[in-house]
Amino acid sequence: MTLQKLNSIRTFPFTSNPKFKPPGVVNEKISETPAIFTPFTIKSVTLKNRIGVAPMCTYSSANGLPNSFHLVHLGQFAVRGAGLITVEATGVTAAGRISPHCLGIWSDEHRDAFKPIVEFIHSQRAVAAIQLAHAGRKASGGGYYTEGRGFINDVKEGGWPDEVVGPSAVQDFDYLGQPKEITLQGIEDIKEAFSQAARRADEAGFDVIELHGAHGYLIHSFLSPISNKRTDHYGGSFENRTRFLLETIREVKKFWPADKPIFVRLSASDWLETVLPDSSEEFPLHWDLKQTVRLARLLRDEGVDVISVSSGGTSPKQTVPFFEQFNTQFSYEISKEITTSVAGNIRLPSEAEEIIKSNKASIVLLAREFLKNPNWVLDALVELNNLKEKGDEGKKLISWPSQYERSLL
Ligand SMILES: Cc1cc2nc3c(=O)[nH]c(=O)nc-3n(C[C@H](O)[C@H](O)[C@H](O)COP(=O)(O)O)c2cc1C
Repeated sequence: MTLQKLNSIRTFPFTSNPKFKPPGVVNEKISETPAIFTPFTIKSVTLKNRIGVAPMCTYSSANGLPNSFHLVHLGQFAVRGAGLITVEATGVTAAGRISPHCLGIWSDEHRDAFKPIVEFIHSQRAVAAIQLAHAGRKASGGGYYTEGRGFINDVKEGGWPDEVVGPSAVQDFDYLGQPKEITLQGIEDIKEAFSQAARRADEAGFDVIELHGAHGYLIHSFLSPISNKRTDHYGGSFENRTRFLLETIREVKKFWPADKPIFVRLSASDWLETVLPDSSEEFPLHWDLKQTVRLARLLRDEGVDVISVSSGGTSPKQTVPFFEQFNTQFSYEISKEITTSVAGNIRLPSEAEEIIKSNKASIVLLAREFLKNPNWVLDALVELNNLKEKGDEGKKLISWPSQYERSLL
């Protein structure tokens, strides 16, 4: 579908019909609202429930432009009641993409192509977020299911091997490329690219921007002593390693409206404690929870609203224990300093409910569960309201997508 055609169907007459109900909220007839179905307000933005779609690369773009796949893919979660929809890692520059198939927002053409997606998400009364990213030393990689995860070392195959940069010339996973140490001018250029991306995200109508500071990508690679070996004012001490992120936030804030929230996704740990146990306070060997909590305070003071808690991604030696909810305890600690969202092996509605009830996070994000079941939110509404035994009659008590109500007849 061309952008022009998409734009021509941008009005949603059904949403102005008084019978239209936003999907994924509790019908007031139900006595006690489960915690995950309570609204949550951050600055000017209100989430109708606490369930969000975590950012997920889909490797389905050409030249970084969103297309009808992204509209349908993200739209399916909006129709099915998710409160927050986060667009996947989106390159602030072409060379900042993970793969040639990843989304980007480095031009106004990209901005305009996002507009119909944002408008559709809004039509379902969901909040639209976009993850702004620079892949750093993990750039010029293959799309997961296209070329596989390896490094694309050839321009003819769509890669950009000579433009791959990191804080230092230190390779990440051995299937990735050898980065060059980024220059001071390069740092300035990327901060500028983040701020212009934020401007475009606002102009496209996004409610939230999330800076990708996790999973070994550029921002995380500055934070972690594993990847940051610089000897200038961007490396070494905690203050120096966090400088790039803090300066980027200051640049972004020049263009992102003060009443719209800023999220930052962080890896709370490099998961290297068992491999490099002698981490010292002043000059640690890797990134850990203690530093994340310290950074959380700085981010809060800079005006960041939410830390999206994740972990890992910066070293092949990481030992990620993929037990249930492996990031939730990190989120609990960080939430003592700043509002958090959390993802990581959260599968059941009862688990999500417990996280919100016990203040371990304010928003629960799901990735793989949503891929398996885009109806997760509506199923959770049924389950947590004990409507199962009432069958389809029970489903009528909750806010189902208006267009699909006949499935309950
Ligand atoms: C297909 C896929 C793509 C992903 N892409 C991103 C991404 O673009 N940005 C990001 O921060 N995390 C990404 N992740 C990580 C998820 O956001 C999430 O943190 C992780 O999958 C753990 O959540 P889960 O157990 O609910 O899947 C991706 C995960 C999956 C499964």
